[in-house]
Amino acid sequence: MSYMDTKLLFQDVAGFATPLLAVFAVDIATGKDAEPLVALLTTSDAVTKAAAEVIASNEFKATLGEQLLLHAPDGLKAERLLLVGLGKAKSLSVDEVRKGAGAAVRAIKTRGIRKIALAFPEDRALSDEHLDNLPCTLLSRALTEGALISEKDWDTYKSDRVDRSLEELVVISPESEETTTHEIQLGFDEGQIVAEAQNFARALVNEPGNVLTPTELGKRAAAMCVEAGLKCEVYSTAKLEELKMGAFAAVAQGSVQPPALIVMTYEPKLEKGKTLPADAPVLGLVGKGITFDTGGISLKSAEGMEKMKYDMSGAAAMIGAMHAIARLKPAVKVVSVVCSAENMPSGTAYKPGDVVTAMSGKTIEILNTDAEGRLVLADGLHYAKTLGCTHLINAATLTGACVVALGIINAGIFSNDDETYEKFAKATQISGEKFWRLPCTDDYKDQIRSQIADIMNTGGSRWGGAISAAMFLKEFAGETPWIHLDIAGCAWNEEVKPWHPKGPSGVAVRSILEWVRSYSA
Ligand code: BES
Ligand code: ZN
Ligand code: ZN
Repeated sequence: MSYMDTKLLFQDVAGFATPLLAVFAVDIATGKDAEPLVALLTTSDAVTKAAAEVIASNEFKATLGEQLLLHAPDGLKAERLLLVGLGKAKSLSVDEVRKGAGAAVRAIKTRGIRKIALAFPEDRALSDEHLDNLPCTLLSRALTEGALISEKDWDTYKSDRVDRSLEELVVISPESEETTTHEIQLGFDEGQIVAEAQNFARALVNEPGNVLTPTELGKRAAAMCVEAGLKCEVYSTAKLEELKMGAFAAVAQGSVQPPALIVMTYEPKLEKGKTLPADAPVLGLVGKGITFDTGGISLKSAEGMEKMKYDMSGAAAMIGAMHAIARLKPAVKVVSVVCSAENMPSGTAYKPGDVVTAMSGKTIEILNTDAEGRLVLADGLHYAKTLGCTHLINAATLTGACVVALGIINAGIFSNDDETYEKFAKATQISGEKFWRLPCTDDYKDQIRSQIADIMNTGGSRWGGAISAAMFLKEFAGETPWIHLDIAGCAWNEEVKPWHPKGPSGVAVRSILEWVRSYSA
């Protein structure tokens, strides 16, 4: 294990000695002849001069993630100058900065370089329309997050693994004005915390099902909590029985691996003499932690089943978010409930036709044992309410239907409360993650009405499967403001991008964290 050195420096970029200096650029083409196509986001004359010839050649278009490498740049102490495109200047947001920083880091890794300096994007050299409306702290944070998130390669199980992890990340800004340097520093510090939390979640998702059993997930969550200073309790079968979590227990009963009910608690420490008001919100973060989903007796087909180790991505998102919450210390109480089990077919497994009683007292007819996520969450949501949560959010790789509806770009979001939804939508502007709202109004309730029990665990119609699942969860959220994130399509990066490899994405960690912070007193 190697440890990365991270530094933020306020100095002239040209005077910094590094194996590689990355400078960002945007596409400013107007379509008129003889006008420049690309602008560098730097105020350094030396950098501008070193890149002048190649910029004038128009070989580099500054599309998002595009790279161009120059060796021994004239007038710079850096051994190499890497130009990194952020796309069109007009549509520049912090998200492009996050991706661009990631592209820079991944580009050096393939070249065997392990130290990088990123020039903090500056645009006083340009007209006013570009970076001016992007807050410095967010820009700095996105830059740092992008660099550290992209850094991961999921090769720890390769016996011939070569360690290509970053040794040094330096961010350099020529800024000297005190409030601005303070803002940049704040973003840099936060970015590291957020990226580490997201990477922690991703590492959990990457683990194969034979390694990361529910028990092991409980151990890793508990170890994180000890390190971060959170309270953590990990329970198993006996507690599920005691709490009468009949839905969660039904899913778990087919496996020799015992379930894990993980409860992590963050209590804000306020200044002396201050207390949170009695009616202060308590946020409940509930995660689906199926460490492997075979489908159970309603067995999945073999093709692609290996991917179902990722069926604990919702749980990982909550554990990651709690990690960052512990370090960023918002003034709001947060309780996270993770319901972890393995969904297996066996002689003891639950079956289609079974009727189980959830902790809330509702009876559920099982139609398909592959719709197990909503069952474990039903008890997790209800339990969170009994622990005093006033607002609930859950994350789950819940339905293939959500992937059919939204593809792999947007995750699904459902809510029974517009105000709570709006707070989350705002949070995504900071996180840069994409969620698309789908309905769960009572008109859809017929879809889960059962002949013999209160509700059934799959929709009566084959249409709108993501909504049927949300309707099921809504029964257990009840009147409590609640958000459901269906991350089935976004939790695993299926495609390689300049800023990420194939593998776990860590989606939702950043948005959940920001949503939590929006309740800070
Ligand atoms: N973990 C899956 C969701 C899933 C399926 C994610 C396919 C990615 C791809 C979930 O437990 C599940 O199997 N859901 C079923 C529900 C159905 C039986 C109503 C599904 O989506 O097919
Ligand atoms: Zn399933
Ligand atoms: Zn599942």
